[in-house]
Amino acid sequence: MARPHIEPFVDRDVPFKRMTLPGFPRGMNYKMLSIDRDNGACTMTVQFDGGYKQPPGFSYSDVEILVMEGLLQVGDRTCGPGYYFFVPARVHLPAMSTSRGCLALFMYNQREPNFVESDQDGDRADRSDLVQVSTYDDMPWMTPTLHPATAPGCLLKLLRIDEKTHAMSFLYCMVPGFWQDNISYHDVAEECYHIWGTSWMMQFGDLPTGGYFWRPPFINHGAFASEYGILGFGRTDGELYNHFHFHPWSTPEENKERAAARLLRRKPELYRWIEMHGHNHPTDFDFSGR
Ligand SMILES: [Fe+2]
Repeated sequence: MARPHIEPFVDRDVPFKRMTLPGFPRGMNYKMLSIDRDNGACTMTVQFDGGYKQPPGFSYSDVEILVMEGLLQVGDRTCGPGYYFFVPARVHLPAMSTSRGCLALFMYNQREPNFVESDQDGDRADRSDLVQVSTYDDMPWMTPTLHPATAPGCLLKLLRIDEKTHAMSFLYCMVPGFWQDNISYHDVAEECYHIWGTSWMMQFGDLPTGGYFWRPPFINHGAFASEYGILGFGRTDGELYNHFHFHPWSTPEENKERAAARLLRRKPELYRWIEMHGHNHPTDFDFSGR
C-alpha cells in the first residue's frame, strides 16, 4: 500500500463529490481520504442520498465498510451506526438501500472502487473471510494486549485480523482525560478516522470529528491527549508494534535503524538467518500459497 502521508486531514473541510465510476448507481457521494495512485486502492467517506438503491453485486477488491450515521439496508440486515463489513474480493452482497440516507467509511484495499452487478459470488471468492458485525452492540471494549502497551484509557474492539499479515481493522477509544507522554512509531502503515471527538498529538495538533490520517511506517507521533475522549476507526497493514521513545526529532531513517536493532535483539536467530543465510528474499519462503 503505497499511499502518501496524509496528516492531519479533516473531511468536514471539503465537499462531497458524485461517484461517477461505472457500475455505481446515482446517489453515492464521496470524499477521498487517501488513495494509492499505483493501483487505485483508497479510503473514502461516503454519503448515500435518501432513496439510494444498489442491486446485489461484488467488487474485484476486498471492501471494508463502517456505517457511521443513518441506516443501511443490506438484504434483510438493517445496519445502523457501528455496523462493519469486511467483504472479500468477488464475494457478493445482497441489494443495498437507504430510505433516509447514510454516512459510512468505504475502503477498497487492492484497486479502485468497482462494482459488478451479480446475485452470486465471482470465481475464487472466499466467503469464509466475510465479516458482518454490529460492533457497537455486539462487541465489548477490550484493554489492548499489545506489548509495549499504550497508556491506560485507550481501549480496543478488534474487528478483523488478517491471519497471514496480521493487518488489523479496529475500533478504538480514548477515555476523557486520556494522555500518554511518549512518542510512538510503527514498522507498518497506520490509518485512522475520528468518528467522534478530538484528540491532540504533539506533531499534528488537534484532530477533531471527521479527522483522518494515513501514516506510512516509521513516522513519529505522540505525545497524545484527549480532553473529552474520542471514538475512532483504525487499520494497519501488518502487525502493530509500538516503538516507543522520547526523542521528538528522530527521523524516519533513524527510526528504521532503531526498529531493526530491536528486531535483532528480540528475534536474533530469525534476523541473522534472513540477513546472512545467503539470500535476501524472505517472501520466496511465503507459506501462504496464495
Ligand atoms: Fe500509532
